[in-house]
Amino acid sequence: MDQIQNTYKVISNEKLCQQFWCLSFDAPDLLKEVKPGQFVHIRSNEGLEPFFRRPFSVYRAQRYVEIFYEAKGPGTRLLAAKTKGDPLDVLGPLGTPFVLPSLDIKQVVMIAGGIGVAPMLILSDILKKRKLDLVLLYGGRTRAHVYPMKEFKDNGVKVHIATDDGSVGVKGRVSDLFEKVKFNSHDTFIYTCGPNPMMKAVQDFALKNNIKGQAACEEIMACGLGACLGCSILTKHGYKTVCHDGPAFDLDDVILH
Ligand SMILES: Cc1cc2nc3c(=O)[nH]c(=O)nc-3n(C[C@H](O)[C@H](O)[C@H](O)COP(=O)(O)OP(=O)(O)OC[C@H]3O[C@@H](n4cnc5c(N)ncnc54)[C@H](O)[C@@H]3O)c2cc1C
Ligand code: FES
Repeated sequence: MDQIQNTYKVISNEKLCQQFWCLSFDAPDLLKEVKPGQFVHIRSNEGLEPFFRRPFSVYRAQRYVEIFYEAKGPGTRLLAAKTKGDPLDVLGPLGTPFVLPSLDIKQVVMIAGGIGVAPMLILSDILKKRKLDLVLLYGGRTRAHVYPMKEFKDNGVKVHIATDDGSVGVKGRVSDLFEKVKFNSHDTFIYTCGPNPMMKAVQDFALKNNIKGQAACEEIMACGLGACLGCSILTKHGYKTVCHDGPAFDLDDVILH
């Protein structure tokens, strides 16, 4: 479908924990089109700075479109200042969505680090209808990067948490949670999103255990439309743009470091 550029009204903008926010906006046209793994490109300023739009995965698309974000730089700090009724200039939905698991898959394991959890809620909203065994392995740096994740639990997702300092859940990395799950090469499918070293650990594990999956990649973006090639990453099939060919790629296709 064609992308929609429109100005929508902010419905709410809430802090979920010390580091993360959730902003919802009223976008009935986007709501009908967006698929798990796609993103929206948001202009956070009203003047010239920051010049480029900022990309955000769609976190949920039910009554409103929601994004989940960390306020860490000029664009996201401006976003955090938005309040109910403010206009929001949005372009989307953009990118290639996640491929959904084939019908022989019985278990889906979502493996996310930090803000990489953002594309997983909308995915679980869709997958819960298929009565699959759904698991989320989440790694955050500290308690400041952990929020209740009630919406996942309401979707029947089993949530396991690791933090670097052990302030919530298991002390360690998200890969320390792999032992919590009984992975099966024939009927488990993995989705992952997060920092590249984390996704590399997931990729190595999946390859070793012959498990298929998809990775949602991130790269700094300008146009968001596949035109500037600024977000290109290397895959086994050559350079691909994260904004147009991705963000979702087959887990065994992306070259991660
Ligand atoms: C497809 C896609 C989906 C994304 N989804 C989300 C999301 O759901 N929630 C969320 O909080 N963030 C998401 N991001 C990252 C988000 O776009 C950046 O955090 C945002 O652009 C930062 O803007 P800023 O002006 O606040 O900070 P900047 O000053 O632009 O950046 C702050 C820091 O973040 C780094 N950074 C900026 N953009 C990216 C990026 N794309 N990937 C990795 N590091 C980056 C910069 O190098 C810098 O260190 C996504 C990025 C992509 C490409
Ligand atoms: S941001 Fe321009 S091609 Fe992806």
